[in-house]
Amino acid sequence: MKFTSLDALDLGGISSKSRITVLTGAGISQESGIATFRGAKGLWENHAIEDVATPQAWVKNPELVLRFYNERRAQVINARPNLAHKLLAQLDNDYDVQIITQNVDDLHERAGSHNILHLHGEIVKARSSVNENLIYPISGSVLNLGDKCAHGAQLRPHIVWFGEMVPEFEKAIALTHQSDLLLIIGTSLQVYPAASLVKEVGLEIPVIIVDPEMPRLNSWTHWCFIPKKATEGMEILSAKLMRQ
Ligand code: APR
Repeated sequence: MKFTSLDALDLGGISSKSRITVLTGAGISQESGIATFRGAKGLWENHAIEDVATPQAWVKNPELVLRFYNERRAQVINARPNLAHKLLAQLDNDYDVQIITQNVDDLHERAGSHNILHLHGEIVKARSSVNENLIYPISGSVLNLGDKCAHGAQLRPHIVWFGEMVPEFEKAIALTHQSDLLLIIGTSLQVYPAASLVKEVGLEIPVIIVDPEMPRLNSWTHWCFIPKKATEGMEILSAKLMRQ
């Protein structure tokens, strides 16, 4: 697959207050010590998706599901935003940045980004198992069997599981349509519908991918691929964008 180099990429239309949409995935939090999902050391190598991340798993063994997410939550709470999260947050000063993240961690928030849409939920929150609009912050890292919502129903992790609708997807499409530049950082683009967002940008919109591995996608040749980890890739990008 052919990509354009960053130097050759036409960013002529990008100026202060341009809308930069940033689609992030697990890779951006990898350098904060949070495992990605796929690949050799990925989370799904050691856990069967159907046992812990589906509505069926919740019905069959809610205790196991809660334990799985309690462990993930503890890791997130102990993690810190890395330079990639921080440099993205700094871009808010000069551009109109909209982050659309598949991540359930809160590292973009803690780095200081303002506009963040979580496509797959937020691990630091719980929600009612009978009313998806009843969402609560979790104090501490543990959600237990017996923790109930205002209707007296069991609370579940505020996570979009495999096989569930992605409630924020329409909003994500609308936001993507407004992009002047799309950055894609640390996602294998294997999970739909999130992966299909990359097809929502206009053909004339520059797209930059930061990932040590080339994602499997049919890109257009005017897209730019930076084969680096998120922190290094963001250093290069933020230097470039600061010169715009
Ligand atoms: N910097 C940038 N990218 C990295 C880094 C790093 N330090 N380390 C790994 N990556 C890249 C990998 O090469 C891969 O392309 O991050 C990507 C991670 O891919 P996945 O593990 O598939 O994560 P993601 O794309 O976010 O998964 C999407 O799948 O299981 C679901 O709901 C879960 O939101 C998740 C969705």
